[in-house]
Amino acid sequence: MHYSALAPGKRLRPALCMESARAVGGSPQDVLDAACALELVHAFSLVHDDLPALDNDDLRRGRATCHIKFGEATAIMAGDALFALAFRTLRNQMGTDTQRAVAMGWLADTSLELVQGETLDLLSEGAEPSADTLEFIHRRKTGSLIACACAFGGHFGGGTEAEVAALRSYGERLGLAFQIADDVLNETASVETLGKAAGSDKARGKLTYPALYGIEAAKLRAREESDKATECLRSLLGPTEALLELARFSVERSN
Ligand code: IPE
Ligand code: IPE
Ligand code: MG
Ligand code: MG
Repeated sequence: MHYSALAPGKRLRPALCMESARAVGGSPQDVLDAACALELVHAFSLVHDDLPALDNDDLRRGRATCHIKFGEATAIMAGDALFALAFRTLRNQMGTDTQRAVAMGWLADTSLELVQGETLDLLSEGAEPSADTLEFIHRRKTGSLIACACAFGGHFGGGTEAEVAALRSYGERLGLAFQIADDVLNETASVETLGKAAGSDKARGKLTYPALYGIEAAKLRAREESDKATECLRSLLGPTEALLELARFSVERSN
């Protein structure tokens, strides 16, 4: 659990949660447990995504994947435990009982969507490409948790319902853009830069944006979606510079 959760990842979801709190006038330091809960769900999803039965990858965050390092049984259980730890961590988040209960429901719904997306991602390997299915998969396997991160920040940062909704919309669009960029990087970047497999999507016949539209059109779509994400921030009164920067980073990143 330590090995995978504390490996050097980008911590995008915690950063989005903390900056979303700031964007509604809250303090990033006051949403740390919620931010950690999101990263724990993310870590669980990566450990299981890499398993032989799923993507069968041996490198993650520049290190051997959990099942390569500790064996498959341990990796399955480490993933299960990280998922449970996420909810226990969220229980410690500052706020009212109602705020925590609402957030627990969101995290559960998001996790169901993530698993739904992962399932469809696998079922779609080698299948006839469909634009609708592709967007559906990306919104769920990646977009949902990223949107939840933004909603958590707004929620525990003391934002209004409208502010939380705006942040969630920002996160949904950013999440789609982020996964499209990830598809592009899988085709264009090296294993060394990524710290994880490159070229593997094509080899497995994954349904991806470059596979359906080509690299350039996929890059354009990612930028459009990231631009739409930033438009959602207009109604917020707190500082949004970091969220604007994270939207740019999500599509211009090199790993
Ligand atoms: C990897 O996510 C899986 C996807 C959703 C594309 P990240 O690119 O955020 O992975 P880390 O946390 O930096 O390792
Ligand atoms: C991303 O999966 C989403 C989750 C892990 C839930 P991918 O399989 O597309 O991402 P990488 O390339 O393994 O990071
Ligand atoms: Mg996968
Ligand atoms: Mg994978």
